[in-house]
Amino acid sequence: MRKIKDIRPLKFEDGYLFVINQLKLPKELQWVKLSNIEDYEKAIKDMVVRGAPLIGIVGAYGFYQGIKDKLPSQEVYNRLKNTRPTAVNLFWALDRMLSFYEKYKEEKDIVEKLLKEAQRIEIEDYHANKMIGGYGEVLLPKKANVLTHCNTGALATSGWGTALGVIRSAWENDKDITVFVDETRPYLQGSRLTAWELLQEGIPHYIITDSSSGFLMSKKKIDAIVVGADRITANGDTANKIGTYTLSVLAKHHNIPFYVAAPTSTFDLTIEKGEDIPIEERSQDEVKNCHCCPVAPEHSKALNYSFDITPAENITAIITEKGIIENPKKEKILKFFGRK
Ligand code: MRU
Repeated sequence: MRKIKDIRPLKFEDGYLFVINQLKLPKELQWVKLSNIEDYEKAIKDMVVRGAPLIGIVGAYGFYQGIKDKLPSQEVYNRLKNTRPTAVNLFWALDRMLSFYEKYKEEKDIVEKLLKEAQRIEIEDYHANKMIGGYGEVLLPKKANVLTHCNTGALATSGWGTALGVIRSAWENDKDITVFVDETRPYLQGSRLTAWELLQEGIPHYIITDSSSGFLMSKKKIDAIVVGADRITANGDTANKIGTYTLSVLAKHHNIPFYVAAPTSTFDLTIEKGEDIPIEERSQDEVKNCHCCPVAPEHSKALNYSFDITPAENITAIITEKGIIENPKKEKILKFFGRK
């Protein structure tokens, strides 16, 4: 078994949460202290922290901070909820914190209790990731070229990762893995963050431009694709980083397995199908500039949808901490969750 480095994107010290500033990577590893609700809102909105599970965890700590600072619970909940719209993990974590608060708010140690609940959410996520990794790595051949999109690793979660966690687990289990990392314009989660993580583990990888994936698939250079998810609906449609849908169509065309790895907190069974998921649209400046350098004419307009929807029929399997859902569809998903 290979040794894996434990990367964690957050730490709780001296009564405050510190997070890695993901805007600074890979150039600089900078920790930022989140001292009040404004810091939390800004960190999530501006993508200092990002990735569905991580924004859920940071949201949970933000709820604790807001109550500690004696703000009304509903205000704290609403302010954190309005930071980013697509990843359901944020709402899942805030709902859990709010109902926990409602249950124990009369107790004098409510603030410490809320901290413990946020820490529980963090720890549960780490264990879920390890389980996802264990289930998922079995699906990868002993020697495999795996393509991934965005960043779904330790930096997007409490540690280890979902899709990148599957790759980490396969590597840990001595599989001969080479990762093809989509650079993932415009925020460059792939080239800046995923490559940074892979480099620390010594996992062989190539950064590729987003438009290279079809050519590589046609050349039979890709054995499997593993991506994460921001929200999965009752019928298995999946919102994930923009470009995921394109990959799924190419994978189907080239008969390459297309796996989605996500904790069960990423499922939103209140939504029937993908078209009902709110898709975040971010500033056009992110497209027209690359790390503050203009890369487009000032007066051109740009579109910047942050996510797209992959239909369930393009997904070979969804890998969760509770097991694998092959050829996901509504009946299977409801049965998996013990619902009718
Ligand atoms: O905009 P981001 O960086 O928050 O988007 C992240 C993704 O789309 C990830 O693939 C998803 O959140 C899964 S992370 C384990």
